[in-house]
Order: sequence, then C-alpha cells, then structure tokens
Amino acid sequence: MIKTMYKDHNCGQLNLTNVDQTVTLSGWVSCVRDLGGILFVELRDRSGFFQIVANPQINPQVHKVLEQVRSEYVIKAVGKVSKRPDETYNEKYPTGQVEMYPDSVEILSESKVLPFVLDDNNVSEDIRLKYRYLDLRREPMLSKMVMRHNIVKAIRNYMNNLDFLEVETPILIKTTPEGARDYLVPSRVQEGKFYALPQSPQIFKQLLMVGGIERYYQIAKCFRDEDLRADRQPEFTQVDIEMSFVEQKDVIKVVEGLIVDAFKAAGVEVKPPFRQIPWQEAMDKYGSDKPDTRFGLELFDIGDIILESEFQIVKNTLQNGGIVRGIRIPGGASYSRKDIDDITKIAVSFGAKALANIIYNEDGTAKSPVLKFVTEEQAKAIQERAGAQAGDIIFFVADKPKLVYDVMGRLRLHFGKSLNLIDEAKHDLLWVVDFPMFEYSEEEGRFMAMHHPFTSPNLEDVDKLDSGDLGNVKSIAYDIVYNGCELGGGSVRIHSSEVQKKIFKALGLTEEEAQEKFGFMVNALQYGTPPHAGLAIGLDRLVALLARTDSIRDVIAFPKNAGAKCLMSDAPGEASLQQLRELHIKSTANMGKA
Ligand code: AMO
Ligand code: AMP
Repeated sequence: MIKTMYKDHNCGQLNLTNVDQTVTLSGWVSCVRDLGGILFVELRDRSGFFQIVANPQINPQVHKVLEQVRSEYVIKAVGKVSKRPDETYNEKYPTGQVEMYPDSVEILSESKVLPFVLDDNNVSEDIRLKYRYLDLRREPMLSKMVMRHNIVKAIRNYMNNLDFLEVETPILIKTTPEGARDYLVPSRVQEGKFYALPQSPQIFKQLLMVGGIERYYQIAKCFRDEDLRADRQPEFTQVDIEMSFVEQKDVIKVVEGLIVDAFKAAGVEVKPPFRQIPWQEAMDKYGSDKPDTRFGLELFDIGDIILESEFQIVKNTLQNGGIVRGIRIPGGASYSRKDIDDITKIAVSFGAKALANIIYNEDGTAKSPVLKFVTEEQAKAIQERAGAQAGDIIFFVADKPKLVYDVMGRLRLHFGKSLNLIDEAKHDLLWVVDFPMFEYSEEEGRFMAMHHPFTSPNLEDVDKLDSGDLGNVKSIAYDIVYNGCELGGGSVRIHSSEVQKKIFKALGLTEEEAQEKFGFMVNALQYGTPPHAGLAIGLDRLVALLARTDSIRDVIAFPKNAGAKCLMSDAPGEASLQQLRELHIKSTANMGKA
C-alpha cells in the first residue's frame, strides 16, 4: 500500500483487526442512504466497499458535508474504524463487520449524474463504450482488468524464468506478411511514402534470432485492417514468442507450460501434454481447423458409396474434385418437415447449395428424396458409415472441399449448441498440426500461404515446390485451440534463403517483388541464421475465454466497436487540410472543402 495524504488504507481491506485504528480513506460514493436522519455512505475504491456513518448528534460538521454528497462524488474521510453492532453485520461485503464515524470528511470532487446506473447490467454496449471511463468502475469490468493483469504477470514470470528476453519491435514499419490489410501511416518527411503498422512482429522477431537473441518474447500490439467480429479487433495484443535452435516439439512444450501458468492465474487448472490433431483429421472429423471437441457429432465421408450409386448430381461433384461429408443427429428422425426446412435454410446461409437428408425411422425403414438414386445395399452402407440407429437423421452436403468443410463444421457447431451438447465445464485444449503450406484462393486465382510465407515447408516436400505440386506441400506449423477457438499459432521458420526464395516464387512473387517487399529479410537469412521457430498467442482472446465472455471488447480497456470506431474519443477523426498538405495527401473526402 502506498500511503498518501489522501489514503493510507484501502476501503475493501478493512476488517475487525483494524478496529480502533485511525485511517484515511478516499474513494467514490456508491450510494448515500438516510435512515431516520443518520446518513450511511457506501465508499468505494478499487479494493471494495466500506461503510461510513454520519450522525448529526455525534458530529454535526461531518453530517453537514455528507448531506451534500451524491453518487460518484469523490470524498476523503478520516476517522477510527469501529466494530458494527452484531445485528447490523453485512455478510455481503468482506468489510461488513466494520464501519467508521469519521472525524472529518472532505469532498475532493463532485460528479454529474451518471448517464447510466453502474449496477445495471443491461446497459447497451454503445453507451458503455462512449463512457468507458465510467464503465470501468463497474465490478464486472474491473475484475476482467484484474484478471488480464494477473495473466500477463504470470506469463512474464514464466518467460523470464526460462531466460527469454523481452525486446520491443517497431510500430512504424514497412509491411508484414500476415495477409490482412495494412494500416498505413503517411510519411511527412519522405513525400509519397508510407509506413505500415505491424500486423505482428513476425519479421522483426526472426531478425532478432539472426541477431543472436535466441529467446525472445514481447507483449506486442498488432494492427490489422480486417472485417471485425466478436473475437477480432483492429488493434489487439499478442504474446509473441521466438526461439533459436529448437524444433516444433520444443516450442509446443514451452507454450504448454505458459498455458498452464496463464490458466492458473485465472484459477483454472489444465494438464499438458495437450492432444495433437493433424489438420486433415480436424477438417475431416470436425470441418474446422479449430475444432471444438467438447462434444461428438463427428462428420463422416460417404463419397465412395455415392460413387457406386446413380446419384448423378453428387457423383458429378465428386468427379470434379468435390467431396461429400455427412453428420448424424441422434433422435433426429422426429424432425418435422418444417424443422428440416429450417435446418436447410441454416446450411444455405452457411453457403451450401443443398442439404440432403435421410431419415431412419423407428420401424427400420428409411425415408429420403435421395433413396431413389441409391440401392438398398448402398442405403445400408451409408447407415453403417454414419453409425445411424433407428430414430436418427443424417444430413450431407457435396461440393468443393473448402465449402463442404465450412458448412458442415458450422452445422456441427449449430447442433452442438442447439442440442446443448457442449460441456461448458470442460477446458478443451489441443494442437492442430501438419497444416498444408498453401491454400488455393479462388478469388486470387493462385496459391496463398496458409500461415505466412516464412513458415518452413516439411523438408520432404521441398521437391514438390519445384514440381509445382503445391497443394500437397505440408508445413511445420501448429495452432493451439481452446474450446473451439484459435488461441495462437506458430511455425518452424525457413532459415535458408534458397528455400525462402522458392516459397516466394510458389506464391507468385517475382524475384524483384520479393526483393522489394521482403529483401532485407532474405538478405539477413544469408548471414548465418540459426534454425528457429515460434508462436504468438492472442492475449485478448485468451483473457476473454478465461473470463468467459463472448467478446474480446470486454477485456480491452478502450476497444473499438464493430465499425473500427472508438465511440468515446470518436477516432478515427478528420484531418485538417493543413495536416493533409504536410503529408502530401489529397483527400477526395476533403476536396469539397478545399
Ligand atoms: P496469427 O496471425 O495466427 O499469427 O496470430 C496469432 C494469434 O493472434 C490472435 N489474433 C487476433 N486477436 C484479436 N484480433 C485480431 N484481429 C486477431 N488476429 C489474430 C489469434 C491468433 O491465433 N506472426 C504469427 C505468429 C507466429 O507465426 O509466430 C501470427 O501473427 O488468437
Ligand atoms: P433433386 O433431384 O433435385 O430432388 O435432388 C435430390 C436430392 O439431392 C435433394 O435432396 C437435394 O438436397 C440433394 N442434393 C443435390 N445437390 C446436393 C449437394 N451438392 N449436396 C447434397 N445434397 C444435394
């Protein structure tokens, strides 16, 4: 406790052991109650509540001051802690057995009437964000800030004990390889040039390895101009890690220890090693690279059976590189026509063109529009593959792999939630490993890096880079997943400039483009680069999940809303013409005013 003229004790920490001590307290007035002329003031600071009483008979001066006090005034009170009469003990508060009849009270600051009631948990998020400094006074916000601090403290302790060096990397940089849109900052001094804000410290942490730092970490701010969701902010924080002379398994071990300590700081015990699931298996069974394995409903493949059938439309899809995956819903045979239509609509909203179903009736018969295309034997084989019992229904979708995984993965989550299959008490941590190196982008008409272009391909697959068989190149990348959310991701990095050049080429970058964008990185790799690997954990997501809140905004003191706006300060704001001129920028938005 830092003792000052304003306070030498915290409100929430006083108890019977402090009785008869004279203390100085300062804080906010939560409420004032007048009971028969006696004033009861609930004084609040970060540590909790404490009751102050003013009796005009005992101390008219104090009573007079407190009569003027309203909610959220800031006051200072000096006096002796006294024991409350037994019958007035308040078990709700840790300080409920003590109180104070102050010798003096001083109003330090008045408050306007607040725009919302702090105790009201149903205030709209927009109002809370506009007055975030008031929102932070609410216990649910404060406790999340405290939890975030405790988690970061545990992480720093853990990393420091393992000899990691915390190194800061720049915010005004060239560009990063994470694949989102950059935030650009115009340069005043270099006309027409722009800095980018880092999407992550990726390049710099690798250069720290070339620089011999060997073990680096940073609680790093990252900036990505992407479409925002509940688990995405334009600026967010990573626990960023990089290590030299290690392989995948070494990074995994370090991160598992970190997770244990971070979870412990939030009161949750977890036990490594965590399960490792190859990417392909995650996609096949769960339709997702961040599978929620707190419940079953695993997907199944009936492609081989359909290929034998007369189900021409789906056969065509399969013969053109498509796949088919199904899901079994136990007891779903009782779904009405409307239920099935609703589920189909949901699948269509996820991107499906059609959703087929087969009902397995209690009497052993099957019912489905697709039965006209399959023989009885094939229908039986499908039932066996699905593990379907009488009373179940199965749904399936055939299309391009990406779409099928996406639709079926989301449909599985939909059923998991709507059928209440998710065990909320579980802490389901797992690694997804063996990612493909590349992902074909229909939009761009080329292969893109699934993680980032500095991820090492599997060394056995390097030949495939030369032969152009990019779809089958695996990478040494790994993601850590918690209850179906991607907490973090990382990889072993390329430490040979030759392999790095091959990857840039595979990504369609000409040598000049690669040199222009990442030349300093490729050059550095030529000066004795240690084998190195790392990972970054999304700190906001980690805290939000441990605080059991749906939105990472709840664990960020001053977040942006879904429109990337700060409702409190109104950022982003306009720039004056003078500023724009200095930055050599012509804004179409401002032209009318010129
Ligand atoms: P990646 O892009 O997977 O990897 O990011 C790592 C983790 O950061 C979190 N995250 C986000 N959190 C909030 N808002 C966002 N917009 C956002 N974007 C990402 C996620 C994610 O798992 N440089 C690599 C790491 C490495 O290879 O070492 C990287 O940034 O939890
Ligand atoms: P139809 O001949 O149009 O009645 O189609 C027969 C069945 O095939 C319908 O139940 C459709 O839902 C199903 N179907 C068509 N295309 C697909 C597809 N891509 N994936 C799954 N089922 C499909």
